[in-house]
Amino acid sequence: MTPLVQATALTRAFDSITAVDHLDLTIDRGEVFGLLGPNGAGKTTTIRMLATLLRPTSGTARVCGFDVTEQPTAVRRRIGYVMQQTFQSGRYLLTGREAVEIEAALYHVPARAVRARAAEVLDVVGLASHADRLVMTYSGGMKKRLELACGLLHRPEVLFLDEPSLGLDVQSRHAMWDHVRGLRDGGVTVLLATNYLDEADRICDRLTIIDHGRAVTTGTPAALKRAVGGDVLLVSTSERERLMQSVGNAPWVTRVAAPDAVVHIYVVDASVALPALMRLALDAGIALERLSYTQPTLDDVFLLHTGRELREAA
Ligand SMILES: Nc1ncnc2c1ncn2[C@@H]1O[C@H](COP(=O)(O)OP(=O)(O)O)[C@@H](O)[C@H]1O
Ligand SMILES: [Mg+2]
Repeated sequence: MTPLVQATALTRAFDSITAVDHLDLTIDRGEVFGLLGPNGAGKTTTIRMLATLLRPTSGTARVCGFDVTEQPTAVRRRIGYVMQQTFQSGRYLLTGREAVEIEAALYHVPARAVRARAAEVLDVVGLASHADRLVMTYSGGMKKRLELACGLLHRPEVLFLDEPSLGLDVQSRHAMWDHVRGLRDGGVTVLLATNYLDEADRICDRLTIIDHGRAVTTGTPAALKRAVGGDVLLVSTSERERLMQSVGNAPWVTRVAAPDAVVHIYVVDASVALPALMRLALDAGIALERLSYTQPTLDDVFLLHTGRELREAA
């Protein structure tokens, strides 16, 4: 089966900045694929190239089997794109239904199909019962779902979602995630750009971590976290350097990092490592001010590959 999106060494430079740098991507039909990275990593630039809105400086990309540079019309017919920017206020004085119906005309939905199609997409995003209210009265999450509805009007095979839950409250974010999963279950392939670790973790089948325009690593969230290995001990101490030296060679430690005030000690198994760490600290006379342990998160994956924390980088 040919991938639905395939980018090879995709590159885009703006003057002196290489926003996207030899990016390779393979997205299979029916998956929710994430591009996870801090602000400025190159996510939007990647999506704009795949959506044929921006020419690559070099490299190639095919979407639904068509080349984005050579066959942009064929690509556009098959994609939906929900942009990062918030809703255009020009539509606030329309009802949700009117806004979608106007958009349908722009997407060349045949006139006699507009009403039914608008009702269908409003239903998909859970706005059917609010369709006749003014957009002005919608919450942020509802406005975002209205944009999602517009992106679905021409029944795209691939939907590009650029930071779909940016600025939404927790409840709206969860509703958005449910809708994205629903789209996937309905057969739509989704490419989702985000800088939220939990969003990437919760709804992406696979993801690429992107930093400075480069793909850092790719895999399922579970596999990426598993590759970090075991558990992570998080230790606060005023003697960071000495602690790092002391534990550096211990057999139960796989890696040590200190991206901030907290020392991250990656270990095979916390149940073995915790008592060993206590003993070691006691013997060396290092006072541990705070100690906790967790399973690796995607933040640890980012840290492992870039030496920085995604939370900090963003
Ligand atoms: N039109 C543009 N002109 C100049 N620089 C740009 C332009 N668009 C994006 N960039 C730069 O490219 C880099 C990547 O931006 P972007 O793709 O928007 O990142 P992200 O979506 O991951 O936050 C940033 O350094 C940004 O400033
Ligand atoms: Mg962006």
